[in-house]
Amino acid sequence: MWVTGSKSALLLGLACSSAVAQDVITTDSYFYGDSPPVYPSPSGNGAGDWSSAYQKAEDFVSQLTQEEKVSLTTGVTANNGCSGHIQAISRLDFPGMCLADAGNGVRGTDYVNSWASGVHVGASWNRDLALQRGKYLGTEFRAKGVNAMLGPVVGPTGRVATSGRNWEGFSSDPYLTGALAFQTVQGVQSEGVVACTKHYIGNEQETNRNPKANDQGQTVESVSSNIDDKTLHEQYLWPFQDAVLAGSASIMCAYNRVNNSYSCQNSKLLNGLLKTELGFQGYVVTDWGAQHGGIAAANAGLDVVMPDSSLWGSNLTDAIANGTMEASRLDDMITRLMASWYYLDQASTIPSPGVGMPVDSRAPHQTVVARNSSENLILLQAAIEGHVLVKNENNTLPLKAPKLLSIFGYDANGDGQSSEQLIFDASTVAYLNETLYVGGGSGANSPAYLDTPFAAMQRQAYKDGTSLLWDFSSQNPTINANSDACLVFVNAYASEGWDRPGLSDDYSDTLITNVANTCKNTIVVIHNAGIRLVGNWIDNDNIKAVIFAHLPGQDVGGPLVDILYGKVNPSGKLPYTVAKNESDYGSLLSPSQPEGQFAIFPQSDFTEGVYVDYKYFDNNTITPQYPFGYGLSYTTFNYSDLSVSTSNESYSAYPANATIVPGGNPHLFDNLATVSVTVQNTGSVYGQEVAQLYLGIPNGPVRQLRGFEKVSIDPSQTKTAQFNLTRRDLSVWDTTAQQWLLQEGTYNVYVGSSSRDLPLTSTLSF
Ligand SMILES: *[C@@H]1O[C@H](CO)[C@@H](O)[C@H](O)[C@H]1NC(C)=O
Ligand SMILES: *[C@@H]1O[C@H](CO)[C@@H](O)[C@H](O)[C@H]1NC(C)=O
Ligand SMILES: *[C@@H]1O[C@H](CO)[C@@H](O)[C@H](O)[C@H]1NC(C)=O
Ligand SMILES: *[C@@H]1O[C@H](CO)[C@@H](O)[C@H](O)[C@H]1NC(C)=O
Ligand SMILES: *[C@@H]1O[C@H](CO)[C@@H](O)[C@H](O)[C@H]1NC(C)=O
Ligand SMILES: *[C@@H]1O[C@H](CO)[C@@H](O)[C@H](O)[C@H]1NC(C)=O
Ligand SMILES: *[C@@H]1O[C@H](CO)[C@@H](O)[C@H](O)[C@H]1NC(C)=O
Ligand SMILES: *[C@@H]1O[C@H](CO)[C@@H](O)[C@H](O)[C@H]1NC(C)=O
Ligand SMILES: *[C@@H]1O[C@H](CO)[C@@H](O)[C@H](O)[C@H]1NC(C)=O
Ligand SMILES: *[C@@H]1O[C@H](CO)[C@@H](O)[C@H](O)[C@H]1NC(C)=O
Ligand SMILES: *[C@@H]1O[C@H](CO)[C@@H](O)[C@H](O)[C@H]1NC(C)=O
Ligand SMILES: *[C@@H]1O[C@H](CO)[C@@H](O)[C@H](O)[C@H]1NC(C)=O
Repeated sequence: MWVTGSKSALLLGLACSSAVAQDVITTDSYFYGDSPPVYPSPSGNGAGDWSSAYQKAEDFVSQLTQEEKVSLTTGVTANNGCSGHIQAISRLDFPGMCLADAGNGVRGTDYVNSWASGVHVGASWNRDLALQRGKYLGTEFRAKGVNAMLGPVVGPTGRVATSGRNWEGFSSDPYLTGALAFQTVQGVQSEGVVACTKHYIGNEQETNRNPKANDQGQTVESVSSNIDDKTLHEQYLWPFQDAVLAGSASIMCAYNRVNNSYSCQNSKLLNGLLKTELGFQGYVVTDWGAQHGGIAAANAGLDVVMPDSSLWGSNLTDAIANGTMEASRLDDMITRLMASWYYLDQASTIPSPGVGMPVDSRAPHQTVVARNSSENLILLQAAIEGHVLVKNENNTLPLKAPKLLSIFGYDANGDGQSSEQLIFDASTVAYLNETLYVGGGSGANSPAYLDTPFAAMQRQAYKDGTSLLWDFSSQNPTINANSDACLVFVNAYASEGWDRPGLSDDYSDTLITNVANTCKNTIVVIHNAGIRLVGNWIDNDNIKAVIFAHLPGQDVGGPLVDILYGKVNPSGKLPYTVAKNESDYGSLLSPSQPEGQFAIFPQSDFTEGVYVDYKYFDNNTITPQYPFGYGLSYTTFNYSDLSVSTSNESYSAYPANATIVPGGNPHLFDNLATVSVTVQNTGSVYGQEVAQLYLGIPNGPVRQLRGFEKVSIDPSQTKTAQFNLTRRDLSVWDTTAQQWLLQEGTYNVYVGSSSRDLPLTSTLSF
């Protein structure tokens, strides 16, 4: 049944969501097309390096009873602190599986670390650091008996500037997000823990993410992200492709609908793009409670539901008996699940699922220590490298053993315990009335301690003989005129579940302005869970330095003090664009709201295509306050010797019939061009620079990020940054050919230190 009819038929379609309906469309397709049906669901075939895992999984599945098969598909809330649990089958020595939040550290338990969040890793632009962080996340989840870490996040990926979960993901650019997701997946899985990359797909806003009742008692469905084929491939599927290429053994389908069909029952997304085009071999699991279709979802490619489904269970058996579902689909669902277990050798890595995940970590329970001091170096480095210095007049920073420092602002101190401290300032935006180290919701993690800015400043003051003055509660503090500098700490909060009301708040802006109006040497530090505007005070002459400190995790103060005092050199770059004014983001500022006659079927039309963040600003010639990729250092860098070499590939089609492996057609990842550049440290201190490559691909945006490399350079020394350009990097998605195609014509090549500081240019062509 292909439901495209009238509204009443549509409502009926919803009511029988466990019927054999294919994609259960939940509104008229009045704007975009429907989601095309793609059936049957392709069985995992052991492609790539999955063949031995599939052999073992198939052997295991062949020994199961029907009831055991069904139980594997349908996760439960078990008597442990896991977000969801797959039940054991002890007769076959299968101990079950624990799935737990989230991508920034283990949540809701003890003896774990709070790691730098996604946006912080994005701001580091450091592939190797992302890999190491992933590895240690893996060791902690593994020690706690977690089979699948519910992360990393590559959607949302910054389409909506105020979106509540942008901080969980890495950046507003698909290339940067994909590159860091690739490393994260490889790091986590190197420790034998499944990386469940989420949220698939188009999950770009929190507003209307789930169905809810309206005033008239009608159900308002989840927002539908209406995305055309080209935009989906080039912007939103891109980082998922990198995750699948990296071996991500699980993908979480999202709450929202895509083209009006729920993500977890959309056959084009699951059977088509993910399992056919990208050759995904792992299992698709729902976001918690994101199942809306029963057998329809199974046929559309959903493999595992979480938690406590009322639609599957024994209904799967009935459906096979009455012919609405193939027995082979059920076998494929659990073969995929078990293949992930064998792929990562979880019989040995996770022998006791959930062992370190107590239901209530305050009640008596077994001690399971996941922390290990061998992690500390990377924990700290990850916290350091996500700080972005955006203003530093006359080398105000680093501080040099000041005699008297004044510290202001609610964010300078706190105990990390007070969610009741969340303040909405006249609905302009939310801030947390204490040090912000992670955003809110299921992506939050559990700190082993909280090193606040104030604590770390006191340690430094002890060493330097500095006198400190402080006032964290006043908005208009009294300022000692002898202060060598005044530090003002504010934050910008964001959480799962709601989108931010704006990108700056009046309370914090007034506090900053009050300090700067009196203190001639004001330094602003912002812990920001997403974009934070500075236009209300950035031109104040007394504001000499500004740091976007993002979300460092439990080590907030130490890394910050290292930067403030020049013990380390800041090297972060913005993973998003900071505008001068909210209105500069245009329709990409705020989430789509239900409106008009289809209010019960909220629509979000991604009509801007790939023109998101800096591509939108470039396209509309809007000058940002701070461009994507921007960040200062205590040294200076010079770029020279751009060289471009191209393989003699023609722009015509590539072997489209190649055997698909996880990630898709392997020829997409052939290197077709190499670009290199010399970077010199022309200042007086050691520093790290992120060399960035942007390409102007014919028939595409004027510039798109297609390479970055972080190089570490001593004063007056040089390093070569090399960028490999793959076929996918150099192609556009051709909707007619249904392939990535190189373009005939001239490509512009730009290299430099941000998306708007690109001193070296060249061209290439095919
Ligand atoms: C959504 O609809 C657009 C426009 O018809 C189409 O290009 C695209 O392939 C569809 N995508 C999905 C996942 O249904
Ligand atoms: C089967 O589906 C019906 C609704 O169609 C539901 O009430 C029932 O709980 C389901 N059974 C199981 C075992 O999940
Ligand atoms: C087959 O069984 C499924 C699951 O119980 C049920 O939802 C569906 O309505 C049944 N279809 C037919 C044609 O009996
Ligand atoms: C800590 O990590 C090191 C290096 O990986 C390892 O050798 C050591 O056994 C670990 N210690 C504990 C207590 O797990
Ligand atoms: C920076 O220093 C120069 C030279 O001392 C001075 O003219 C200028 O006003 C200073 N700028 C700021 C913002 O303090
Ligand atoms: C923030 O916390 C401080 C105490 O640390 C308190 O004095 C102040 O009233 C709080 N501000 C708000 C707006 O609740
Ligand atoms: C931002 O834009 C709005 C509307 O365009 C305007 O009213 C406001 O003054 C601008 N704010 C700043 C700080 O420029
Ligand atoms: C701007 O974007 C539109 C699509 O939204 C595109 O047609 C146009 O070519 C773009 N212009 C530039 C200068 O990139
Ligand atoms: C920077 O490199 C350029 C070549 O791209 C060279 O002309 C210039 O002299 C260099 N500047 C410094 C300060 O080294
Ligand atoms: C492509 O270049 C290689 C050397 O880089 C050369 O051996 C080969 O003949 C070239 N092929 C074509 C078709 O020009
Ligand atoms: C792909 O097609 C080419 C020519 O059409 C053929 O030579 C080649 O064997 C095919 N490869 C595969 C993997 O089917
Ligand atoms: C680029 O490709 C070459 C050859 O495949 C490889 O050795 C090098 O590590 C790659 N560089 C980067 C930055 O990926």
